[in-house]
Amino acid sequence: MEENKRVRRKRYSGLYPKKYNEKYKEKNPEKYNETVQKVIKKGNTPAGMHRSIMVDEILDFFDIKPGQVGIDLTTGFGGHSKEILKKLNHTGHLHGIDQDPIELPKTRARLESYGFSKDNFTLHQLNFKDFDEIDIEGFDFILADLGVSSMQIDNPERGFTFREEGPLDLRMNPEVGIPAYVRLLEMSEIEIEHMLIENADEIYAKEIAKEITKAKIQGKYIQTTLDLHHVIASALQKVSKKVYEEELKKASSRTFQALRIDVNSEYEVLFEMLDKLPSKLNPGGKVAILSFHSGEDRLVKKAFKQYLNDGLFSMTEGPILPSKEEVFNNPRARSAKLRIAIKG
Ligand SMILES: C[S@@+](CC[C@H](N)C(=O)[O-])C[C@H]1O[C@@H](n2cnc3c(N)ncnc32)[C@H](O)[C@@H]1O
Repeated sequence: MEENKRVRRKRYSGLYPKKYNEKYKEKNPEKYNETVQKVIKKGNTPAGMHRSIMVDEILDFFDIKPGQVGIDLTTGFGGHSKEILKKLNHTGHLHGIDQDPIELPKTRARLESYGFSKDNFTLHQLNFKDFDEIDIEGFDFILADLGVSSMQIDNPERGFTFREEGPLDLRMNPEVGIPAYVRLLEMSEIEIEHMLIENADEIYAKEIAKEITKAKIQGKYIQTTLDLHHVIASALQKVSKKVYEEELKKASSRTFQALRIDVNSEYEVLFEMLDKLPSKLNPGGKVAILSFHSGEDRLVKKAFKQYLNDGLFSMTEGPILPSKEEVFNNPRARSAKLRIAIKG
């Protein structure tokens, strides 16, 4: 009798699940497609999923021909890769890179479930700074969609969000480097302040760096996402009550972004990847890079301009912005900037 007892799934309070772990329907789109469509219709991203940005603009530019060989440097959920594979229509080859060892196997299975095989695509768990290690002389198109995926942001275990409790990690590849909470222990007050300004133009950088350092001196180690959120909340004590909640949200977003850029060495790896671009593109080969904050975009803009001046690129264009409709339907697209170029 006891053995037949059904184990009930833990219920959430309220009408809709709020916590990542409660969103079991969204994480199971094959079974609960209706729920997933409802979430998307409301302009949200279902848990465990990533909605690809500026897909039409990128595909129009690439104008993929049968037999071409391309590379997606940031495969993520595989959304752009899937559309590219459809255009290749089982000819040519797509290489896909991602440094995330947790999501990559799921993406491989997802692409296979769409009917693509190892004849059509190869996924590499690699940092894109090393994409020249792939044994291909030149690519016909190269895509990079910088930053983090929604699967990484939304999963509290990865430490990218201050909306839920989780270890303050923030590494896209948790197998290399050090988590953000260790990085904070290593840095002096002035280093934290500079990191917040350089990586996110944080207006409360001084106050936040001071409060983090005060907590460290008092032995209150900042180990979780909410620990850091609470420290930022204390640092903003002097902000007027009227705007406090909004400012706290913005300052926390910027602080998490700054730390993420730091622990993943995002500027350094982007610089290395950009440096290798011209030599890995076939003549007439196309490159499209989507960036999501001014620091990244500046680096892409500068490199493309330099290659144009040096005669390595025959054209560059950008920034191209997402349509109002796309931003309305997917607010995570709001800060996207696309730059495109063709090798001369
Ligand atoms: C915005 S998501 C890409 C989403 C993808 N275009 C799609 O349509 O599903 C960015 C992805 O790039 C990966 N990434 C970021 N920096 C990387 C790097 N330096 N090397 C390899 N992968 C990186 C992240 O792990 C993440 O999965």
